This record gives sequence, structure tokens and C-alpha cells, in this order.
Amino acid sequence: MGVLLHNAKTQDGYPSSFRVRDIVVEPAVVLAPMEGVTDVAFRRLIRRIGGPGLTYTEFIASKGIAKGNRHAWRMAEFDPDERPIVLQIYGREPHLMAEAGRLLQDSGASIIDINMGCPSKKVCNHSGGSALMKEPKLALEIVKAVRAAVTIPLTVKMRSGFDATNRNAPELAWAFQEEGAEAITIHWRTRADRYMGTRAVDKIAETVQKVSIPVVGNGDVIDIPSAKAMFDDTGCAGVMVGRGALKNPWSMLEIGSWLRDIPYTPPAALERLGAIEFYIEQFISTMHTPDGDFAETAVLGKLKQMSKYFIADQTTRLQILRSQQLVDATDLLRRHFHGMAETAHAA
Ligand SMILES: Cc1cc2nc3c(=O)[nH]c(=O)nc-3n(C[C@H](O)[C@H](O)[C@H](O)COP(=O)(O)O)c2cc1C
Repeated sequence: MGVLLHNAKTQDGYPSSFRVRDIVVEPAVVLAPMEGVTDVAFRRLIRRIGGPGLTYTEFIASKGIAKGNRHAWRMAEFDPDERPIVLQIYGREPHLMAEAGRLLQDSGASIIDINMGCPSKKVCNHSGGSALMKEPKLALEIVKAVRAAVTIPLTVKMRSGFDATNRNAPELAWAFQEEGAEAITIHWRTRADRYMGTRAVDKIAETVQKVSIPVVGNGDVIDIPSAKAMFDDTGCAGVMVGRGALKNPWSMLEIGSWLRDIPYTPPAALERLGAIEFYIEQFISTMHTPDGDFAETAVLGKLKQMSKYFIADQTTRLQILRSQQLVDATDLLRRHFHGMAETAHAA
């Protein structure tokens, strides 16, 4: 029912946008928060390509923000023109979550999001992330505390439940809405599923029926057919793309163009190379020390991490992984994409 209140529709009846209070998310496709991936450099790449109506930071430790930890504050960086931007926090202590929310609101966040979906041990072992779905009382206390601390929109991201016998996303979503949460994102998997499991989006559909705030559907949305299926099967207000954006940073442009009824042309090989080079430049620029140096090992490590997503060819990927120098790895990248461009030209 909430969907009708919040969405503008495409000609085919799919939502082209939705609102989180007064924030218009257009198109109704969102870049997922991903630890170790969606830093400011990656988000600059995605914004240069275009596509999402909303971007998220990686999850940020509320304790780190509240205590002024440099690393946590680095993770909270965003560009002044990156609007709207969601800053996602995790933790188990309501007062630290509230303090982090307040400080991040002051830093210019458009929306504060509470992480209740992360399956990682680092987060769950401290009762944060998806472990909170097993502790509804504490989860609710956290939402209440952050709500009281911030005036900007507050949202929650979670899984369908902790495990197969605890798929309580609809009940939790309703309770969070009653405490002032203004949108909910649900990844169809449970925490026990981690990244496996058989697609079951019923709890997303049930939540859409139960609440009046926008519900964003998440899990294996990678292209137009999978986005359509998420909208069709759940009635969600928007879709969130995670790993699909890693494998194909143009995926949200493709989905967003469809939602906006505008044509989309897939990138040619050299355009893809240009985008990766841009990303490396951005990553280097965020790694600079005050004396102008940058940590080459960190950049090389990042390139190796990302090449497993960006490069389909296994031989090139292995060669990049074995590179000792950044210059060798970027050379391999260039040769790979130039080779692809030549093949496409000859065809
Ligand atoms: C590398 C990686 C890091 C992630 N980090 C976060 C995170 O910081 N916060 C969060 O809420 N979810 C995190 N997730 C979960 C994603 O946001 C998303 O819910 C999940 O990947 C399912 O969407 P997908 O099938 O489109 O990838 C992460 C996922 C991946 C693959």
C-alpha cells in the first residue's frame, strides 16, 4: 500500500522513483552499501557512470564515529555534490548509535541507515548487523535512540530474518516504522543463508503489504529482468544492487534507464577501461598522504581485489594477481581492454 503513496510510475507501471520523506530517489535503483568496496572512490566511479538514485557508504562502526576514530571518519567521507547520500552505521549500544547518527547528520548526511543485515562475524559477534534481528527488543531500542537523536530521515537495512525459523522482517519492519523509520531495505536471504540459498522474496512482499513506508527489495538484482522480477514479485518501491554493481558498474545505469524510459547503450571495451582507470585515479587520490605520496601497495591490492569482479578473463586476472608493481598490473589491464576493443572492431 505504501508503494502507491510514494512512487511515480513508468509507462509499464514500474516505479520510476520513490520518496524517503522529502528525498526523491530517482530512478528507483539504489547502490548497496558494501564494506571494502563502496568507498568514496568507488562511488565516484558509479556516479560518473550514472544510474543509482541513491548511494550508501560502507557500514561504519558507531563506536568509531562516537569516539572520533580516524578510520571510521574516513569511511564516512563523501563528496559535497553526492546527494542524496546514506551513511550507514552499525553497533549494539543504543547511546553510541545515537551519538554516531547525530555526528554524521552534522557532517551532512542526507539519511542515516541502521545496519541489521550484515552477516560478518566482526559485526554479528558484537550483536550488531543481522544478529539484531534475533534481539528485537534491543533492535527497537536502537531505532528509538537514533530516531530521537536525528532529524533527517532514518532507514533500516536488514535480511528476511536470522535463519529459516526466524524470518521476522515484516514484523520488525512494522515495529521500526512505528518508531519512526522512514524506509526499509530487505535482502531476501537470511543471515544463515549468507550469500547462498534459494530465492524467496515472500518476506519482502509481506513487508510491502504491512508497512506504509517504502520497502526496497534486495538480493541478486543484476539487470533489467532481475529488477523486473523483484518489482513484480514483491511490489517494492525500489531495488538495491550490490554485487551486480561490482561485476558490472553499468548495471544500475541499465536498470535506471529502463525505469526512466530512456535508451541505454552498453559501454564499449575502451569506455570500460577508461572507467577503471578513473577509478584507480580516484582511489589513489583518496590514499594520498599530506606530503603527496600514496601507498602503492594499497592501490595494487585494491586493483587486485577489484579485478576479480571487473575482468572476466581468468588468465588476465591471474596475471594481475601475480603483479608486483602497480605499473605492471595497469599495463595488463590496458592490454586486456585494448585486445577486446580490437576483437570487437574486427568482428
Ligand atoms: C563485499 C560486500 C560487502 C558488504 N558490506 C555491507 C555493508 O557494509 N552493509 C550492509 O548493509 N550490507 C553489506 N553487504 C550486503 C549488500 O549490501 C547486499 O545486501 C547483498 O550483497 C545482497 O545484494 P546483492 O545480491 O545485490 O549483492 C555487503 C555485501 C558484499 C558482497
